[in-house]
Amino acid sequence: MLQRPRILRKNRAIRELISETILSPNDLVAPIFIIEGENKKEEIPSLPNYFRYSIDKAIEEVKILFSLGIKSILLFAKCEDHLKDILGTEATNQNGLMQRAIREIRSACPDIYIMTDVALDPYSISGHDGIVENEEILNDKTVEVLSQMALTHALSGADMVAPSDMMDGRIAAIRTKLEEAELTNVGILAYSAKYASCFYGPFRDVLNSNLSFGDKKTYQMDPRNRLEAIREVELDISEGADIVMVKPALSYLDIIREIKNRFNVPVCAYHVSGEYSMIKAASEKGWLNEKDAILETTTSIKRAGADIIITYFAKDLISLID
Ligand code: PBG
Repeated sequence: MLQRPRILRKNRAIRELISETILSPNDLVAPIFIIEGENKKEEIPSLPNYFRYSIDKAIEEVKILFSLGIKSILLFAKCEDHLKDILGTEATNQNGLMQRAIREIRSACPDIYIMTDVALDPYSISGHDGIVENEEILNDKTVEVLSQMALTHALSGADMVAPSDMMDGRIAAIRTKLEEAELTNVGILAYSAKYASCFYGPFRDVLNSNLSFGDKKTYQMDPRNRLEAIREVELDISEGADIVMVKPALSYLDIIREIKNRFNVPVCAYHVSGEYSMIKAASEKGWLNEKDAILETTTSIKRAGADIIITYFAKDLISLID
């Protein structure tokens, strides 16, 4: 035999020398769920060992994450039921929960990079990401509200806004709004190729944003499509996105790779709630080794081409990477 690939797998030292993919805390973004109140830390039933925090508790958690090397967070706020309406009015309240959380985290942890979710689903009675009229999700009216929402986040101190709604034209609208307000160093992380996925199930329990009717297939993408993802990414970059995202991650590794190869902007992958819960559930049953499963799946996302990984395993990964 002239070729023996096993030579390069002989022991740990040589395997480390030739390893192609290196996962680092620098790649990770931790999602943080905020609730009203004080001194609250609630475990989320569908996301075992993941929590919702009141702002004061979130600050403690963010400080811990920062000390562990996780320097970026993605904030989601759980809107109280009595503040929800059909227009998502609370989303643009400069004194809303999200906006207060941004200000307080910013002042307590000046160096943390704060990204914020921009979408109407937690604020809308329908659970949809847009304004609804006769069971139709209205694009342009929604985009107006989203850009105002993004502005309130930026004014509160967000470093980057992350529209997760999949309306057409929202990146351009947000970019224009930020420029008009001279918020010229606020970034946009675009959920560009966001698929209509069953893997968001646990997340909708977290924010109590389950749908009152229909599904999200008129705005989120069809899992059967690849070319459409390229088109969405192209549009978002042309409209001013700084980073583009593929979501979910594991069922869409081919899309991550394709976007990475084709475009010259950083690519982010969202390892979503259902992907977390699957590993948690199987390891609770003793069917998977949890640590190995976490490391293998997140490494595969990096290998596929993601520069940035948003994952509920961010904190667990710190010790695993070591
Ligand atoms: C909604 C939003 C969703 C997620 C992030 N933002 C759910 C949805 O589109 O229904 C999912 C995140 C996750 O599952 O971890 N704007």
